[in-house]
Amino acid sequence: MIKQLNAVPTANSKLVEWVNHWAEICQPEGVYWCNGSREEYDRLCNEMVESGLAIRLNPAKRPNSLLFRSDPSDVARVEARTFIASVKKEDAGPTNNWIDPVELKKTMLGLYTGCMAGRIMYVIPFSMGPVGSPIAKIGVELTDSPYVVINMEVMTRVGTKVLEVLGDGEFVPCVHSVGKPLAPGESDHGIWPCAPMEKKYIAQFPETREIWSFGSGYGGNALLGKKCLALRIATVQARDEGWMAEHMLILKLTNPEGRVKYVTGAFPSACGKTNLAMLIPTLPGWKVETVGDDIAWMKFDKDGNLRAINPEAGFFGVAPGTSMKSNKNAMLSCAKDTIFTNVALTDDGDVWWEGIGYDAPEHLIDWKGNDWKPGQVDADGKPVKAAHPNARFTARANNCPVIADEWEDPQGVPISAFLFGGRRPSTLPLVYQAKDWEHGVFIGSTVGSEVTAATLDVKVGTVRRDPFAMLPFCGYNMGDYFAHWLDIGKKGAAQGNLPKIFCVNWFRKSADGRFMWPGFGDNSRVLAWVFARCEGKGDFKDTAIGIMPTEDAIDRTGIENEVSDEDIKQLLSVDVEGWKKELAMIDEHYAKFGSHLPEALKKQLDALKARLA
Ligand code: GTP
Ligand code: SPV
Ligand code: MN
Repeated sequence: MIKQLNAVPTANSKLVEWVNHWAEICQPEGVYWCNGSREEYDRLCNEMVESGLAIRLNPAKRPNSLLFRSDPSDVARVEARTFIASVKKEDAGPTNNWIDPVELKKTMLGLYTGCMAGRIMYVIPFSMGPVGSPIAKIGVELTDSPYVVINMEVMTRVGTKVLEVLGDGEFVPCVHSVGKPLAPGESDHGIWPCAPMEKKYIAQFPETREIWSFGSGYGGNALLGKKCLALRIATVQARDEGWMAEHMLILKLTNPEGRVKYVTGAFPSACGKTNLAMLIPTLPGWKVETVGDDIAWMKFDKDGNLRAINPEAGFFGVAPGTSMKSNKNAMLSCAKDTIFTNVALTDDGDVWWEGIGYDAPEHLIDWKGNDWKPGQVDADGKPVKAAHPNARFTARANNCPVIADEWEDPQGVPISAFLFGGRRPSTLPLVYQAKDWEHGVFIGSTVGSEVTAATLDVKVGTVRRDPFAMLPFCGYNMGDYFAHWLDIGKKGAAQGNLPKIFCVNWFRKSADGRFMWPGFGDNSRVLAWVFARCEGKGDFKDTAIGIMPTEDAIDRTGIENEVSDEDIKQLLSVDVEGWKKELAMIDEHYAKFGSHLPEALKKQLDALKARLA
């Protein structure tokens, strides 16, 4: 029998048996059930500071905040090591890595055997969504990483209250290990534990709703409530139960007359969800408040409104590029009570990163723990970054100055519009609206974006198709997922109020390589047009690709110098030559799905081709 470090706080026999089963396999020094209290959080933080894994930041600068430096190989999600282990390969589809679940379980059980030697197994009962919400789901994560525990305690609702709601009910079982057992007397010596790349597995078993993760301690690989449960497993549940699990921010938009609309946006990783969710409008009288910054779960209510909850309780946000100018509300959200990972450390115990809005001091410790000076270059003469490009802050949603009052409403908020978008230096206009739902699904299914540093193993900067910003996050055949979107449209149309669908692009570049649109707070100018369209207002023109604002329909008051008449004309026109190249890429993308590609989308593509011809 493995030692129990505290009393078992549940009578759920299935849960207790499952925990014991895994303790026998992983052979930890002891099993500890997390209660989610502040005392527990602080204690784990102190233990990690003492062991050298974490650095406590200067409380006068960043109260109650820690800095972690991961292993240089463990800095982002690894798509090549992420698997959808469905029984049939076809059910994982052409965009996922598939392994036979029986074979994978055999391999992983080999890895898990004895993997927690010398470590504690923490049991984390967590709720994705407000505890007890009809849209929420309960998971339990086993992990040997106290870093994962404290991150989960910020990012989800953890502990006793969750077990009370769970009762004898069902939970999603999530197993995680950093994959670095300790020999007797051995310690990490403050070094981030993880396994080599070929032993890392982030595995989802969609039929049995299980998650097994091994070898990585970072972000979406290890905080299993986030991408693994709230997206990969949840997409499968959503398909079966008729709802939606999406990689979307949720914002509350109030116009100068005080009318409110809720808008979601699906942009790929590190493409601006956190920024849009917390935006400070430059248009007078408008207000944006945050409901969520990464994931939305949506269900129709009895009146046919699609209502969204944010299943998370915190933000795991990209640090580089975040400044008081670009995202003041994110800066304030991480002013205290924050876990920083892979940012640089200043000599006075604060953090720094590229794009923080002020120059680096004369000396820093970089994310690898080395001395760093401004202007430092590597052996090839390339600038050495002080923070990793995917450095992150883990901050409490409650610390966000513009968190919406209703962000924890268990019923969710009614959605009026969906935005899709990505990083597109060319072709894609600033904004256009889908003609109808089916056309909107076509737009979502064909979104492309430049790859960012949020993914470790795909070349940064290349444009790839990232349908619905879900390429790395869909737990089943993406073609069937397109069909599910079409089904939701049919269901919604029968009941009433479907959200309007838009495509946006803040990242268009001019021939000389500058962003043509100022972005950030000025994106409110586009939100204002979206708001108007949701009320059947707003000047527009019909084009081959969809409904576009007339040049005057986007308010440029105050930015006429930054965005000239010529610029806005280009930002709001159809680049027919560019679109012809785009069509070729869509053809190639669609060909992958074979018989799983819905007929309606083929028709949409043919119709677009005809309109552009
Ligand atoms: P994940 O957490 O990885 O899912 O990403 P996210 O979509 O929340 O990305 P985030 O908002 O953190 O944005 C990442 C990067 O995009 C940051 O470096 C931002 O500075 C940059 N960014 C965000 N909005 C804009 C914009 O409107 N214009 C430009 N040019 N850059 C932007
Ligand atoms: C993303 O990559 O989309 C993220 C960060 O939100 S992670 O949690 O690491 O997946
Ligand atoms: Mn994300």
